[in-house]
Amino acid sequence: MDQYVIKGGNPLCGEIEIGGAKNAALAILAAAVMADETITIENLPNVRDINVMLQAIENIGAHVERVDIHTVRINGSFVHGYTVDNEYIRKIRASYYLLGALLGKYNNAEVALPGGCAIGSRPIDLHLKGFRALGADVEIRHGMVAASAKELRGTHIYLDKVSVGATINIMMAAALAKGRTTIENAAKEPHVVDVANFLNCMGASIRGAGTDVIRISGVEKLHKAEYSIIPDQIEAGTFMFAAAATGGDVTVKNVIPKHLEATTAKLLEVGCRVEEFDDAVRVIACHPLHHTQVTTLPYPGFPTDMQPQMGIVLGLSSGTSTITESIFENRFKYVDELAKMGANIKVEGNIAIIYGVDRYTGARVSAPDLRAGAALVIAGLAAEGITIVDDIYYIERGYEAFDEKFRKLGGLIQKVSSEKEVQKFKLKIS
Ligand code: UD1
Repeated sequence: MDQYVIKGGNPLCGEIEIGGAKNAALAILAAAVMADETITIENLPNVRDINVMLQAIENIGAHVERVDIHTVRINGSFVHGYTVDNEYIRKIRASYYLLGALLGKYNNAEVALPGGCAIGSRPIDLHLKGFRALGADVEIRHGMVAASAKELRGTHIYLDKVSVGATINIMMAAALAKGRTTIENAAKEPHVVDVANFLNCMGASIRGAGTDVIRISGVEKLHKAEYSIIPDQIEAGTFMFAAAATGGDVTVKNVIPKHLEATTAKLLEVGCRVEEFDDAVRVIACHPLHHTQVTTLPYPGFPTDMQPQMGIVLGLSSGTSTITESIFENRFKYVDELAKMGANIKVEGNIAIIYGVDRYTGARVSAPDLRAGAALVIAGLAAEGITIVDDIYYIERGYEAFDEKFRKLGGLIQKVSSEKEVQKFKLKIS
């Protein structure tokens, strides 16, 4: 089993390039099969979840051509099946986007119930409510969601809760429905806007993405397009918090600073200096870090996907901080692991009370999920001594060349797959 072995203590310094947004890319890949012409997608992150999605699209007949590791051409005219199920697709969350895409194009879809990181209960009732409102019959049977319709008709949908996945899924299905659809209480995340922009590039008519109300006028069909995916705000934020936790000075390049405002605001509150450029953000850490309060909220609030990384920084801040997790109830699983490194954090319900400590000490920890895993790597880079992070396949679902990027910033981190390699790393750095 692969692990990261880390010798902490080096302030991270330098420049790093951020890749395309994984969560936007997953939806865009599904949406690409909705056209019967060739779609070229650039700035695709080369991570495991993306490769699982590409495989799923290929399995239903779409032509998938990898131009290079970050560019793909997809042609959906060859799709011959509407059933999506395999061992891997069941493990990713975004498989549900194939429901909206196939239902919208073929009025028919059957997709395995989505998996994803175990960060809490993750119902898809709002997705199904949306499909039903568009006129589909939806049934869950034998672990599969089956949706079919004679025709999809535009409608008015109010989402009881702000949901990124439901907003995007309904938007995709409605893009090819007859008539006009309105989604109220829509999610406003940058990747919702990115998927809407992509669909519009293919000829869809979607207005209002990025606001509470999205209006979609259904079109007959979608056509060829070339599209470049937006930068990953979560990958960017991860490196920004890594700079803060290690006392470093990192310029994160190829980002949209506006998408990082919540992250930037919290870094300023803990005392870091943050400089914004057109497409880059520089974080200069401070010492000591100050305590603060954080509540996760839908965009433009503080992202739940950045919460564990923020927790690592607050664990090293002076005084007492709190984090309130309002989106997913199981997002504090990194706390027990971080305790092994000397953190002093108590979790009561959906609130973590964080008593800052002067330093973390290296330990053997295990990545409980994607973002918590990334957070523990940051803790290891900040810690005194050696940290080993197990179960890094979670991290590889969403971060491309994670260890390589940290090494570029001066971090001492290596991916290893045996005790012998751990020893070799220790020898090399001693
Ligand atoms: C997506 C992201 C995930 C991120 C999350 C919130 C992907 C693949 N995953 O997940 O990384 O943490 O957005 O930014 O893009 N809910 C319902 N019913 C539904 C759908 C959601 O009650 O039908 C609830 C969820 O339990 C949660 C909240 O709504 O409490 C937000 O979930 P949602 O935005 O849908 O998250 P995901 O699409 O699962």
